[in-house]
Amino acid sequence: MDLSKVVEFAGNNGDVFTAQLVNFLRIKSISTDPKFASNVHEAADWLVAELKRIGLTNVVANETAGHPVVTAELIGGSDRPTVLVYGHYDVQPPDPMDLWDSPPFEPDIKDGKIFARGACDDKGQVFMHLKAIESYLSTGNEVPVNVKLVIEGEEESGSEHLAAFLEANRKLLDADVVVISDTAMFGDGIPSITTGLRGLAYVQVELTGPNRDLHSGVYGGAVDNPANALARMIAALHDDNNRVTIDGFYDDVLELSEDERATFRDLPFDADEWKRSIGIEDVRTERGYNILEAITARPTLDVNGLWSGYQGDGAKTVLPATAAAKISMRIVPGQDPDTIAELARLHFVKHAPSTMKLEFHKLHGGKPVLVNTAMPAMKAAARAMHDVYNREPYFTREGGSIPVVADFKEILGLDSVLLGFGLNSDAIHSPNEHFGLDRFSQGIETIIRFMHHFGHPEDK
Ligand code: BES
Ligand code: MN
Ligand code: MN
Repeated sequence: MDLSKVVEFAGNNGDVFTAQLVNFLRIKSISTDPKFASNVHEAADWLVAELKRIGLTNVVANETAGHPVVTAELIGGSDRPTVLVYGHYDVQPPDPMDLWDSPPFEPDIKDGKIFARGACDDKGQVFMHLKAIESYLSTGNEVPVNVKLVIEGEEESGSEHLAAFLEANRKLLDADVVVISDTAMFGDGIPSITTGLRGLAYVQVELTGPNRDLHSGVYGGAVDNPANALARMIAALHDDNNRVTIDGFYDDVLELSEDERATFRDLPFDADEWKRSIGIEDVRTERGYNILEAITARPTLDVNGLWSGYQGDGAKTVLPATAAAKISMRIVPGQDPDTIAELARLHFVKHAPSTMKLEFHKLHGGKPVLVNTAMPAMKAAARAMHDVYNREPYFTREGGSIPVVADFKEILGLDSVLLGFGLNSDAIHSPNEHFGLDRFSQGIETIIRFMHHFGHPEDK
């Protein structure tokens, strides 16, 4: 077994790998919009063909009540540890379209980066795993671990059918550890392994007042305006310390220990640069917490969408009959998404004005996670990152959510290694999403080396 040959193959084939990734990125696999259901299927089929071509076995696009889950495996022997690779081939909608410099599904390579929806989240990162496996097989080497893959098509719309799929396929998915590349590194050239993710509780509220939109001159003054009322309610959701005012919201929060807070302070984080990168003058954090703590380890409540009344050009003197908001709460270890959504419902019911009717809907949710940093796979991952980046990776928490990580633990008893190569500046979910080709190849090499270290822990 010659590891350098495997790494060399990957290094020499960067252009070929990129050209293949371009084809994957062309497919409009937008899972949340039913209009694109056939495109989502097409992406699953594309993956199936590619996995077969590389030489994996048992390659199947498993139909579910939603979009297919692609599974595949490469089993070398029962003496080897088994890695379950998870990722998602679905993507977020590209809107707003007019802010893209090049069309989101016509990948554009510019300044060493590939621009397309899904370039980083998550097609580009899923593809690194395929190319790492291919690099072993194409050089006549065995992959030093058994590999199983589970690549879903519904992550961006809440992974609705994945838990049932895991329940129904325990044996197929049996492994020693899950490896996921769907997170970010701490910074460019600053490798990190993610040790915690926030969860999510997503709700929608609607207020309805009069039975129709009214003339604001004829009725205004005596009719409570749903837009005004919703604005009052939203404003009251945070107090002067920027803490969420929902009763019981913080009850189950696992507070950061002094040690953890010290680790946060040691991270090479430049607050001014961070503010500059997103064009804000100042921050607003929960009192007593710094930026990094606030964006990764504290719960939040944010309005994600807000609508009511006249939105067109010019003025229309109208007192709208309804107002609505989409609200997401990022939750942290200790908190439960259903409990938090229910506390939010109770809050809205209690505070809704008697002048109007309230409707409250729970949309999707996901559990937060803290990962096991002591397991052998974590050591192999840290070693692999050190090989490639020539420095020790940091252990960091991130504020985004990957709900299936908690399911892997609860349903399959598996811990996950979050080995991501994104950057927060990659504009995932935004116009001009991109992935640096340098990180694409570093990711492939890191995964090759991870498989080696995890499969041969005794080797240097
Ligand atoms: N890959 C992201 C999650 C992520 C992004 C984790 C950056 C860490 C850093 C994932 O695809 C995602 O977008 N998740 C959604 C959750 C889901 C329930 C829609 C999220 O975090 O909003
Ligand atoms: Mn993702
Ligand atoms: Mn995403």
